[in-house]
Amino acid sequence: MKKIDVRLGQNSYSVYIGVGILSQTGQRLKELGYNGKAVVITNPLVNRFYGILVKQSLLDAGYQAKVLEVEDGEEYKSLESAGKLYQQLAEFGAERSTVILALGGGVIGDLAGFVAATYMRGVPLVQLPTTLLAQCDSSIGGKTAVNHGQLKNEIGAFYQPKMTVADISTLKTLPTEELTGGLAEVIKYGVIKDAQFFVYLEKHLDLIKALDDNVLETIVAKSAQIKVEVVEIDEKDTGLRNILNFGHTVGHAMESVTNFQIAHGQAVAIGMVAATKIAAELDILDLGNVVRLKNLLEKAGLITKLPLTKVKQVMQAMRYDKKVQNGKIRFVLPRAIGQVFITDNVSPAIVEKVLGEMI
Ligand SMILES: NC(=O)c1ccc[n+]([C@@H]2O[C@H](COP(=O)([O-])OP(=O)(O)OC[C@H]3O[C@@H](n4cnc5c(N)ncnc54)[C@H](O)[C@@H]3O)[C@@H](O)[C@H]2O)c1
Repeated sequence: MKKIDVRLGQNSYSVYIGVGILSQTGQRLKELGYNGKAVVITNPLVNRFYGILVKQSLLDAGYQAKVLEVEDGEEYKSLESAGKLYQQLAEFGAERSTVILALGGGVIGDLAGFVAATYMRGVPLVQLPTTLLAQCDSSIGGKTAVNHGQLKNEIGAFYQPKMTVADISTLKTLPTEELTGGLAEVIKYGVIKDAQFFVYLEKHLDLIKALDDNVLETIVAKSAQIKVEVVEIDEKDTGLRNILNFGHTVGHAMESVTNFQIAHGQAVAIGMVAATKIAAELDILDLGNVVRLKNLLEKAGLITKLPLTKVKQVMQAMRYDKKVQNGKIRFVLPRAIGQVFITDNVSPAIVEKVLGEMI
């Protein structure tokens, strides 16, 4: 098992990453000094796999435990779901000291996190991520959110958990496409911050796909460590945290143009290739690194070409992205594998040329 400390002053907490550690949740929570009631928020699918395990661990540690289900899907990451959960929490007699545990992927983590941040002006939160994306990314850093109308992830709060327990064994039941999608974010960490990690991924991809426990623990821990380092410097997302958006400028545009028919990880993979090609076009990055990134993404099962020919529409979508400032499109570009910088100074003509070459 690996333990990573997140140092954020009064909001500090630890992330535990290991095999079969979900059953220790209750005990760890007790050691943090919490007692009384504990509510697990999850969805029916994840509940079926891991709900009883977590509930039993809470009961064994002396908690009065309850499991609440929200339907599975991004469309349920909503104010309506939050409203139902507030009601159910009140019916259970949840108090200021009641702990909320988010058991599931990023959807559950964001929604349950938002509910924990707002119910009674904030109750203790524990993240129990069960997808690769949630273990490497969304359960760390304290961003919680719901979607509302056209606003995606824009209603929310920065709210740090009291601990995060990422049990690698839960990845065994994850559908392959979810694992593949999560790998896009894992590869992203290598490009933005750690060349050695990128090499590790190149060497161990087969073992990752074979769900080798040791390798999965290593890649989740390394990804989490990199995210923690970034969040410790920029908790509220005012500067450095932007580098986590590597691949997301074109990625978000792809999601928007395809009306979210393309999976997030796939969109980010395309975006990472685009950003890397832009850097090569600007003579900032060696062309060989574009090839390395493409090879790794493709081996992981990710897309590296534009799955449509509507380059103009992608350009348009980028201009409407919330990250556009003063009409300038912001890119995170690599200087080398393991090193990126943020720029508003990429001419649209270059972006259009690169996208055209990616069809
Ligand atoms: N807060 C943040 O910093 C942050 C960062 C990135 C993404 N996000 C959010 O995360 C969400 C995406 O998260 P996701 O990719 O985890 O998707 P998800 O939560 O929808 O989970 C994907 C699917 O896998 C299922 N699942 C989860 N764990 C499983 C398991 N162990 N075995 C079998 N099936 C399992 C889920 O029920 C779901 O059907 C988006 O809403 C996104 O906005 C948040």
